[in-house]
Amino acid sequence: MSEPSRSNNKPETGAFYQRDLDWHPKAFTPWYKTSVLRSPQKSLLSLDGTISEITGPRFGHNIIGELDNDLIHNFARPGESAIGPRIVVYGRVVDEDGRGVPGALVEYWQANAGGRYRHRKEGYQAALDPNFGGCGRSITDENGGYFFRTIQPGPYPWPNGPNDWRPAHIHFSIFGSGFSQRLITQMYFEGDPMIAMCPIVRTLNDPDAAKALTAKLDMQETLPMDSRAYKFDIVLRGRRSTFFENRREGN
Ligand SMILES: [Fe+2]
Repeated sequence: MSEPSRSNNKPETGAFYQRDLDWHPKAFTPWYKTSVLRSPQKSLLSLDGTISEITGPRFGHNIIGELDNDLIHNFARPGESAIGPRIVVYGRVVDEDGRGVPGALVEYWQANAGGRYRHRKEGYQAALDPNFGGCGRSITDENGGYFFRTIQPGPYPWPNGPNDWRPAHIHFSIFGSGFSQRLITQMYFEGDPMIAMCPIVRTLNDPDAAKALTAKLDMQETLPMDSRAYKFDIVLRGRRSTFFENRREGN
């Protein structure tokens, strides 16, 4: 069955499915040092969602600048480009029922090819790239699709244990159609041996969850003599019911 049309722009108002807390990491994972102070000391209370959680901001394509989804050029001097292996990252933002989420704001940030962030508190010795800023954004199309161009980030050390390193990764923030769908996550690269060593990855309970965070190399979408491509699909919380056209679905 084809996906129902959302061209009528009716807001979605259905309540969200419960989060699967076995799939998400536990809040207290002492081998990821900062989780010790950040994790709640008391058990959580369950509250019903209200309109402010099940609705959210709506973004139009007009908020996106021409180079916002091109990290190779969006901070580069005219005629220059960022240093590093050039890649395209693309995929779909879908809900738990597999339906594309159109109009979602997808923001991404990352270290440069040497693993260095442009941040005054950065303590890693790798060099900055004057032509690389490290952040950008996209709005998903009518099928939930997004893409951006960037350079593959490098792994970097961080002060967790005596010698912990993060695998190469890109950070993501996604605003869907309701605030309760907000997702902050990270994308890893297929075949990276450092994924399994990472204390943050090891907060996940299920190896399939780590796999879901790992983008696959896709030679079909490679741009010859330009960029390799990685495919990364993102799943947001689904709704129990959704307005389509003039009827309610999902009940
Ligand atoms: Fe990072």
